[in-house]
Amino acid sequence: MDRSFVMVKPDGVQRGLVGNIVSRFEAKGLKLVAARFENLPETCVTEQYKEHLSKPFFPSLKTYIMGGPCFLMVWEGRNVVAIARKMIGSTNPQEAAPGTIRGDFGIDIGRNVIHASDSPESAAREIAIHFKNNEVFSYTRIDESVVYEY
Ligand code: RTP
Ligand code: MG
Repeated sequence: MDRSFVMVKPDGVQRGLVGNIVSRFEAKGLKLVAARFENLPETCVTEQYKEHLSKPFFPSLKTYIMGGPCFLMVWEGRNVVAIARKMIGSTNPQEAAPGTIRGDFGIDIGRNVIHASDSPESAAREIAIHFKNNEVFSYTRIDESVVYEY
């Protein structure tokens, strides 16, 4: 089954949005297979966002992400990477559609509440940055056919 790395950023944690966000993913039918709070060390932030190292916004991005605890998750489900990106909405919350997490909860691009992997390759890379294999739990729900057509 596909997996994605999803992270409530420090502003989302401070604003008490963790429960709402987890509820949205659960209600969609996705499965939470790993989760924890962490004050991300600089090495993890740099690794996570290494494609942006040379961008002008990188220093403020690093300060933002290291500004408090993040809530790190791995979600599992069919096509979960694309689904999670749709659920979080456009990078700039002012352009994110209502009904998406950023569209409902954010205003500034530098306070956009949540991260989700942008491709299956990124997801595999990011999960490996933040979780050990034995911290990700595979389990079968009582009846997966209530979510999936087989
Ligand atoms: P993320 O990686 O956090 O899920 O966000 P994303 O894919 O939607 O956007 P990305 O281009 O990867 O940017 C990473 C994060 O950097 C901050 N950012 N600031 N000031 C700016 O122009 C700017 N651009 C990006 C945002 O926090 C964005 O989520
Ligand atoms: Mg990104």
